[in-house]
Amino acid sequence: MRENIANLRPIWTDPGEGTVKVIDQRKLPHAFKVMDLETVDAVIYAIREMVVRGAPLIGVTGAYGVYIATANGGDRAKDDAWLAGVADRITAARPTAVNLAWAVNRTLAAVLSEKSVQNRINRAWREAGDITEEEAENSRRIGRHGLSLIMAAAEKKSGGPVNILTHCNAGALACVELGTATAPIYAAHDHGIPVHVWVDETRPLNQGSRLTAWELGRHGVPHTVITDNAGGHLMQHNMVDMVIVGTDRTTYTGDVANKIGTYLKALSARDNHVPFYVALPSSTFDWTISDGLTGIPIEARDPDEVRFAPSKPRIPDHLLVPENSPAANFAFDVTPARLVTAFITERGICQATETDIRRLFPDKRYLP
Ligand code: MRU
Repeated sequence: MRENIANLRPIWTDPGEGTVKVIDQRKLPHAFKVMDLETVDAVIYAIREMVVRGAPLIGVTGAYGVYIATANGGDRAKDDAWLAGVADRITAARPTAVNLAWAVNRTLAAVLSEKSVQNRINRAWREAGDITEEEAENSRRIGRHGLSLIMAAAEKKSGGPVNILTHCNAGALACVELGTATAPIYAAHDHGIPVHVWVDETRPLNQGSRLTAWELGRHGVPHTVITDNAGGHLMQHNMVDMVIVGTDRTTYTGDVANKIGTYLKALSARDNHVPFYVALPSSTFDWTISDGLTGIPIEARDPDEVRFAPSKPRIPDHLLVPENSPAANFAFDVTPARLVTAFITERGICQATETDIRRLFPDKRYLP
């Protein structure tokens, strides 16, 4: 079966009803369920519990959260301080991906530039819609730029597939369309370039084996799910031509926060001379942090996500550890810029250095 994954959007609106709908990603790949987001609390729940996840998508969802607050707030929607408080609550739902704060603050600023409640509601709806469409366009551009890297790799393969390793899900489900890491892969596949993807399962919530494999399978992209620790072995045996991952927050100096385990892939890639690419839209750059290791907040999630197989309800059969063993659940790690071969952005490809990032994004406000 082959479907056009570009048509899959994990978030959409019903403009007539003014409602926001999302795919409940916790249920995939076994069930396709849609959740209506009707209150700010529902938005916060969806982001924190990972009904929606992935940096660009939680940004878009947060932007619609500001709309929902404004539309449902009655007279409180006139109160700038109340709106700012709601925006802070939404932003706090997940700390690592900078897209969330970026999109929420952008929508809040747009709302606050209007006076009447009705104008504020209309403005919030428009701003969230604009962010959605911009992220979709960013993914298309990332796909076009990344395609050149896969084409160059294909030329060295004399017809054999380009083997690409990816971690977590930086696909359409994490964005609005196409994904970030997966956008060049879809572009290459659609151009008839043979590709094969090694999909890290990505414990503990298995975004790779549940979501990336589901997406790639729907689109007809050849792929193989591997355990999280297999990548080093594959690279030692020349079975990986490149790594492409997404990111949740990247400093303007090039340090990359992404799903836990990304750093180990970057180390293996460097040791085995495998190019390590990071695909990201500009909304994932943090223009205020220079040192990723000390500056990027790393989310610590519920240890039970590690202790139990990813399924609910949590029943003893699904307990993976001795009953009394504690667990720790660091959700992200930071890959230093020196291990990154290049960034694939909507404006093109650049080195993971402050100089080259500034070359591509001279218009951003860098701090300090
Ligand atoms: O915890 P998650 O599933 O939200 O983590 C997602 C990732 O780590 C992705 O790689 C990242 O958000 C890039 S999304 C295009």
